[in-house]
Amino acid sequence: MQIDILTLFPEMFTGFFSHSILKRSQDKSIVTINLHNIRDWATSKHKNVDDYPYGGGAGMVMMIEPVVTCIEELKSRTAYDEIIYLSPDGETLNQKIANQLSIQKNLLILCGHYKGIDERIRTNFITREISIGDYVLSGGEMAAVVLTDAVVRLIPGVLNDETSALSDSYQDGLVSPPAYTRPADFRGLKVPDILLSGNDREIVKWKYEQALERTKQRRPNLLNDQP
Ligand code: ADE
Repeated sequence: MQIDILTLFPEMFTGFFSHSILKRSQDKSIVTINLHNIRDWATSKHKNVDDYPYGGGAGMVMMIEPVVTCIEELKSRTAYDEIIYLSPDGETLNQKIANQLSIQKNLLILCGHYKGIDERIRTNFITREISIGDYVLSGGEMAAVVLTDAVVRLIPGVLNDETSALSDSYQDGLVSPPAYTRPADFRGLKVPDILLSGNDREIVKWKYEQALERTKQRRPNLLNDQP
């Protein structure tokens, strides 16, 4: 998969993309992530990328020209399956959307900043708008990291244990069962006997029951959601 990210702050991504699963996915050449600084497409003397909103109001708006010339240049080289804009008023990211995106080949992700982007970009160049939750961030960069991580970890071969993503919370419509590791007894706080029993069938059954019970208690809405 190729992911092109358009941002005014490419440096924000380097820590996340150079560690753990996002790093491994790139090292294994399963994913290529390209960061593009929108300012490189600004044509004015001072490389302006934002301006005052028509009609007045607080804050600055990202200008159409640098964003669109950047998108057009990238589109001339790559056929994108989705051109995503991250915005608090987009559809809320969930596991289903992450699954859909994980089977795509090329994604372009646009991060907004300031008071957002010129509406004409959204209506004419964006194919999908995604929010990572009902709160407002200072920009789309953190949302882009969240989206990229949620998608990339689902691509086969990215995780070492192939079943690992499949047993994630939400993947089967349930939250994860509780997990324990050594020691089996920490100051009298004991790991459930069943997990030490070696009876694989019973352990699988126990984990499923725990996941179901937790989902009922904590996230009953998941039980009603369509897969
Ligand atoms: N940009 C600002 N807030 C955001 C959010 N909640 N989700 C996605 N992008 C955003």
